[in-house]
Amino acid sequence: MSAWGGLLASYGQWLGNPAPSDIVTLNEGNTPLIKASALSERLGAAVYLKFDGLNPTGSFKDRGMTVAMSRAKARGAQAVICGSTGNTSASAAAYAAKAGLTCAVLVPGGYVAMGKLAQAVMYGATVIQIDGNFDLTLNLARQLGEVAPITVVNSINPDRIDGQMTGAFEVCDQLDGAPDILSIPVGNAGNITAYWRGFTTYQDAGIISRRPAMWGFQAAGAAPLVLGHVVTEPDTIATAIRIGNPASADGARRAVNESEGQIRSVTDAEILEAYQFLARHEGIFCEPASAASVAGLLVHGVPEGSTIVCVLTGNGLKDPDTALSISPRPLSIDASVDALRATLNI
Ligand code: F0G
Repeated sequence: MSAWGGLLASYGQWLGNPAPSDIVTLNEGNTPLIKASALSERLGAAVYLKFDGLNPTGSFKDRGMTVAMSRAKARGAQAVICGSTGNTSASAAAYAAKAGLTCAVLVPGGYVAMGKLAQAVMYGATVIQIDGNFDLTLNLARQLGEVAPITVVNSINPDRIDGQMTGAFEVCDQLDGAPDILSIPVGNAGNITAYWRGFTTYQDAGIISRRPAMWGFQAAGAAPLVLGHVVTEPDTIATAIRIGNPASADGARRAVNESEGQIRSVTDAEILEAYQFLARHEGIFCEPASAASVAGLLVHGVPEGSTIVCVLTGNGLKDPDTALSISPRPLSIDASVDALRATLNI
């Protein structure tokens, strides 16, 4: 068996077949599709978790970043920039390091999970905190990209969406067909747009016979697509999706309309309940935003007996503060077997 060589090596035929010398990869993709037994039982459906938190920088962003960075480098770019709630910045910084490009990331000051910040600085990006939310950071990156020689690697860059289609390809390859429902958290709406395009590409090629219904979930305090208007001050504990004006709103609407799906919201309490349930009953530690895709199913219900894939977009280790804030504190006891027996009641 040959080793996995990343998305452009495996799915290159859908991505313009780049020359191997043009590929910038950290061997992203090929993440597991895990059968969720406890969740399946609770929901009366066959639920699978696409754990994209197991990508090289711990989120699905690496799927788009390998393509965006490979193409940017091939076009002769020297520098890249993004606005980010954290994961895009971590991924951009890592792939820029691999490509030998300079990277600047703009993040909303005070609203980025600690692990993501640590990643961006460790990979050597220039990290700039802006006094404002994600939407402002994206606007700034965009404006700079228009006047300066720097490539914007947010999902407004179509190369990112191209790469993220591979999430849908893998789901179909792993399930041997499309699920009935694809459940996904929605922030800037690039990923739901990319998944829909991926399913459509596979259907057009005759690889799958039907596409899933696309179910998107936003945090209640940052739910512009549910409300039908921009949210000027988005607010949620799921900082990854704390976004009030999604750049790919049209793509999300198209995915939901064409698939006869839905976009709904879940509260922070519902997100945290799903987040903890996944850790305690499925052994999967994702980040809060990712758990929105599961919270949506638990809160709004699912058709009995259906096959559902939830995309768990990011790794729980990125946000230890939220995990610790809702968990019991570690116990402190005397270092003796007696004290251990008393504590564990055995
Ligand atoms: N889940 C996680 C863990 C994310 O980091 C994001 C987006 C989403 C879901 C939503 O995906 O924006 O394509 O709808 N994070 C971006 C970032 C905004 O900057 O890292 P989307």
